[in-house]
Amino acid sequence: MVTYDIPDLSRGIGPQHYLQLVDSDVRDRIELIVAPGSTGPRDAKPVDLLYIDSSHEREQTIEEVQVWRPHLRPGAPVIFDDYTNPGFPGVREATEQLGLRGEQRGELFVHRHPG
Ligand SMILES: C[S@@+](CC[C@H](N)C(=O)[O-])C[C@H]1O[C@@H](n2cnc3c(N)ncnc32)[C@H](O)[C@@H]1O
Repeated sequence: MVTYDIPDLSRGIGPQHYLQLVDSDVRDRIELIVAPGSTGPRDAKPVDLLYIDSSHEREQTIEEVQVWRPHLRPGAPVIFDDYTNPGFPGVREATEQLGLRGEQRGELFVHRHPG
C-alpha cells in the first residue's frame, strides 16, 4: 500500500508518526510518501484501489482524481471518505463536478473506474 500525507503544522506532528500507530508487520507493507496526493504516483504500477481521505477540499479532490485516474486498473474502486460529512461539502461537490457514478456506502462514496 502506498499512502500520501503532508505534515500537520498546526498539531506539530508529521506523517512519520502515524506509522508508529501500527504493528511492524503492517508498517512493512506501507510506503509513506510525504507529499500531497495530487502529486500522483511515483511509478508506473497500475493502481487496484484509490482511497481519498485527504484535504476534503473540492479542487484538491478533483486534482487527485484527475492525476490518479490514468493509473487505475479497469474496475478499480475509487473511494471517497467523508462523502456525507456536512463539515466537508467539497467531497460531494468534487464527485458531482466530475460527474462520477457510484453508490453511497455509509459515509463513503464508491465509484468504479470504467477503464
Ligand atoms: C481525516 S485524516 C484521515 C487519515 C486516515 N485516512 C485515517 O482515517 O486515519 C486526513 C489526512 O489527510 C492529510 N492531508 C490533508 N491534505 C492532504 C493532501 N493534499 N494530500 C495528502 N494528504 C493530505 C492530513 O494530514 C490528514 O492526515
